Amino acid sequence: VRVALVGGTGNFGPPLARRLKEAGYEVVIGSRDAEKARAVAAELGVEGAENAEAVRGADLVVLTTKADATIETARQLREAIGRTPVLCVGSKLRFSPQGVLPSDDPVSLAERLQEVLDAPVVAGLHSLAAATLDDGQTPDEDVLVCGDDPEAKALVLELAEKLTDGHAIDCGPLAGSRALEAMTALIVNVNKRYRAHAGIRLTDVG
Ligand SMILES: NC(=O)c1ccc[n+]([C@@H]2O[C@H](COP(=O)([O-])OP(=O)(O)OC[C@H]3O[C@@H](n4cnc5c(N)ncnc54)[C@H](OP(=O)(O)O)[C@@H]3O)[C@@H](O)[C@H]2O)c1
Repeated sequence: VRVALVGGTGNFGPPLARRLKEAGYEVVIGSRDAEKARAVAAELGVEGAENAEAVRGADLVVLTTKADATIETARQLREAIGRTPVLCVGSKLRFSPQGVLPSDDPVSLAERLQEVLDAPVVAGLHSLAAATLDDGQTPDEDVLVCGDDPEAKALVLELAEKLTDGHAIDCGPLAGSRALEAMTALIVNVNKRYRAHAGIRLTDVG
């Protein structure tokens, strides 16, 4: 299975790419800059290409661009992505002196993404920190996934299962991504308050 990480050159892309490669996935790192993609990819032992090139031929596209740039990037890649399933890991957040706040948009980033893409969008992995993926041990937490398209969601759940010692949990329709994204605000506040890389565990599942 070939997975393209659009904007996979930042904090989250490389540790995710490493884990996916270890799990047997074929990974391609995407970037706005082909040279940058190839340099980051070379360190990981995977392929690298400009974003539009990276998504062509992929079985799954993960948008690992910084959250603010996700919708615009998706608009630009709409044709190249076509109907290939897309995983949205980003959250719309607001930053205030009191702490991180959930978005005041009633609709999630993942749902906004679904409005601009022809592909089925799945939301997930929000609570899996880059630092946790990078620390050499398999994360001991659950991975929560929402989506409306059963096949796309199954593909993401299978991938998520391989990233963690916890469960990959089907949390229902894509609209549930509003809760997942809002939860990111909580986790960022917890991480700051307790100097942690907090994850999520649902009890009595699986
Ligand atoms: N960091 C985490 O622990 C974590 C955990 C779970 C989910 N996430 C989510 O994962 C996503 C990536 O997070 P991150 O921390 O890796 O972000 P990041 O390092 O800030 O940015 C990732 C990549 O986004 C691309 N980018 C930046 N500005 C852009 C623009 N204006 N247009 C298009 N692309 C742009 C850059 O790639 P190029 O310059 O190479 O194009 C950059 O390397 C976010 O949506 C975040 O919410 C992060």
